[in-house]
Amino acid sequence: MVTNRTVTITDNTTGDTVECPIIEGTHGAPVISIKGLYPALGMFTHDPGFGATSSCNSTITYIDGDKGILLYRGYPIEQLAEKSSYLEVCYLLLFGELPAPEEFARFSAKIRQHSMVHEGMRTMIGGYRQDAHPMGMLVGLVGSLSTFYHDSLDINDPEHRVLSAYRVIAKMPTLAADIYKYHLGQPFNYPVNSLGYVNNFMRMMYAVPAEPFQISPTAVKALELMLILHADHEQNTSTSTVRLAGSSGANPFACIAAGIATLWGPAHGGANEAVIHMLNEIGEAKNIARFLDRAKDKDDPFRLMGFGHRVYKNFDPRATIIRQACHDLLGELDAGAQQAPLFEVAQELEQIALSDDYFKERNLYPNVDFYSGIILSALNITVNMFTVMFAMARSVGWIAQWMEMMVDAEQRIGRPRQLYTGAAKRDYVLKRDRED
Ligand code: CMC
Repeated sequence: MVTNRTVTITDNTTGDTVECPIIEGTHGAPVISIKGLYPALGMFTHDPGFGATSSCNSTITYIDGDKGILLYRGYPIEQLAEKSSYLEVCYLLLFGELPAPEEFARFSAKIRQHSMVHEGMRTMIGGYRQDAHPMGMLVGLVGSLSTFYHDSLDINDPEHRVLSAYRVIAKMPTLAADIYKYHLGQPFNYPVNSLGYVNNFMRMMYAVPAEPFQISPTAVKALELMLILHADHEQNTSTSTVRLAGSSGANPFACIAAGIATLWGPAHGGANEAVIHMLNEIGEAKNIARFLDRAKDKDDPFRLMGFGHRVYKNFDPRATIIRQACHDLLGELDAGAQQAPLFEVAQELEQIALSDDYFKERNLYPNVDFYSGIILSALNITVNMFTVMFAMARSVGWIAQWMEMMVDAEQRIGRPRQLYTGAAKRDYVLKRDRED
């Protein structure tokens, strides 16, 4: 909401000024609209990493980084984690409200209807090396989904947009499981739509033709929790990428493939994989100090993976929930006992880092990725699949944010400016006249 407050920016050399309106949202810091800045002063703002820049209006997710609050459509993450299901959270993120029972039944049926992928996708999977990184495969496969739906890719048609959302949410588990099976050299499983969303995914992941399939309710509960916690996180790097790609009019599958590519990086979703490698490397509590020293050494590129966040400066509520889930569930999961020593090292590392001045001064706390790999390992999911699990969960957030953007009256092609620091204008020199 535009307020009657303004901020005046003055060029102290020329005395030129511009009055910028202040806009307030429901929660959080107000923003200064700087649209009038360039016309009035001939200057842009400069904010590498967008640390001080709001890029859009959004009604989906809210984070208060100082208080450790995360809300999806106004509902606290703690309540959703305890009481909701991933599919219900998908509905909430997409349409803004918790579904009534009938609405939820219709929505679940729609998602089930789209769970299969074209057989051509499986031919594509066969073209990858068996040791291909699952995230590389997922980028390619999700982008390729667009090639199967020429008749329903009109981004200006609201029905096509919703259909694409259903397809993304429904097909991600199938693709993730197919990638996993290919990696293991086991036959693919087709979805069984009489099963719930998470059970269906776990069956596709773990069932083998030679054995009856059984999955424990604790494992389903653990994965459901992981999916809910990762479902959306306002304008994070991959979501901003999805929006930027979408601002050009690119189709939703292409946009989400761009989001998946972005999530892969170790500073973002790839951190969950990096944390497990780091914890394994640390191995025992007696080695923690050496790794902390490396993390503090500015000449060493090593960072404590799973620590720090651009927005959370107190604690990441998702990390708190996952740490508790490790306590509650590890003992009950098949491979949980094997993860217990790693969990111990992780907790010890957290304790030592949180009492260290370097981490205290910089407000560096464990983030969602710090403990998530321990749960995923206890579910027998291989480390190279961790970021795929994150992508599967986040796909609803990406598509919900894309759908929101498509009806935003303020939406324009995303096109930042720059501070040019290269060579000054100069004339071309013929090759023969250039000095060696
Ligand atoms: N280990 C050691 N030092 C750190 C770390 C860390 N993990 N994170 C930040 N710092 C230091 C950093 O060197 C800087 O110090 P100084 O002020 O002396 O230069 C200060 O803390 C501020 O860090 P920054 O890099 O300016 O913060 P940022 O907001 O740009 O980066 C981050 C946020 C998450 C990329 C970063 O904390 C990081 O690289 N963490 C490790 C990777 C990680 O766990 N990523 C997952 C993020 S949460 C889930 C997700 O997004 O997928």
